[in-house]
Amino acid sequence: MKTNQKKEIQELKKEKDAVILAHNYQLPEIQDIADYVGDSLYLAQIATKVSSKHIIFCGVNFMVETAKILNPEKTVIHPSTDAICPLAEMVDVESLKWFQEDHPDAATVSYVNTTAEVKAVSDICCTSSNAVKIIKNIKEKEIIFIPDRNLGLYVKRFIKDKNIILWPGICPTHHSRIKREDILKLKEEHPKAEIIVHPECQPEVIDIAYQVFSTNGMVRYVSQSKKNEFIIGTEKELCYRLRKENPEKKFYPVATAICPNMKKITLDKVMKSLKNLEPILNLPSDIIEKARRPLIKMIEIGRGD
Ligand code: 13P
Repeated sequence: MKTNQKKEIQELKKEKDAVILAHNYQLPEIQDIADYVGDSLYLAQIATKVSSKHIIFCGVNFMVETAKILNPEKTVIHPSTDAICPLAEMVDVESLKWFQEDHPDAATVSYVNTTAEVKAVSDICCTSSNAVKIIKNIKEKEIIFIPDRNLGLYVKRFIKDKNIILWPGICPTHHSRIKREDILKLKEEHPKAEIIVHPECQPEVIDIAYQVFSTNGMVRYVSQSKKNEFIIGTEKELCYRLRKENPEKKFYPVATAICPNMKKITLDKVMKSLKNLEPILNLPSDIIEKARRPLIKMIEIGRGD
């Protein structure tokens, strides 16, 4: 990026009283101009602490909604409103309510990758970094876990004393674009590399991993590890941050592991959003109020990995 463009962004942020939050899967040039880069839990926590009037959120829709729910008084701006999370679209309020009626004693734990409306009818939220901790903490013995089936199956490996009922949702990037064969091929090419994967991957991928983490969990782990090479089983842009923060180490992503929605946010769109302070994300106040409760409960329980 040109130095004058970087300077212009810094000046605009100041002038507009804006802060830029970006997910670890954002394009390198977006990560470079963001004030905070992180995983879903980190960004939700940061969203409760920022003091700027305007939040420019570079991520997919459920992340932007989460920032708004936690900051109803702030203007939350999504530079590309078509950047949606297909996993979050796999559960709707009506189907969930039917399911809840069939399981009246169950607590509904909703992965943050859900819409605000779905959160509003959930008991507590979780992210990939704290799902095990959150479910362990719940008193109910029966849990409806929505919508990521692979994350639910991963949680079940650690929790045997609860009946965790899974929803048939998947993240297309983790489920279909990161295959066991891809990881094994990378391991053949780089035998010394340690395999680290995201819990949204299929169980057969998790079975061959040395560690399973959220994206920030991976960031922390590789920087503390004595190992020098890692095969990364998550959206490949995370490797930009990993390489930037650990220039002496080597990272091997799966070439097909791309989330096309995360890539819809471009530098041009962020610049436009900064200048015009739009498109603004709005949510009905009753949804904000109801969806806030399960999110706050999650934040109070906190970090998992
Ligand atoms: P993290 O919270 O681990 O960054 O994951 C977010 C996500 O949406 C993965 O697909």
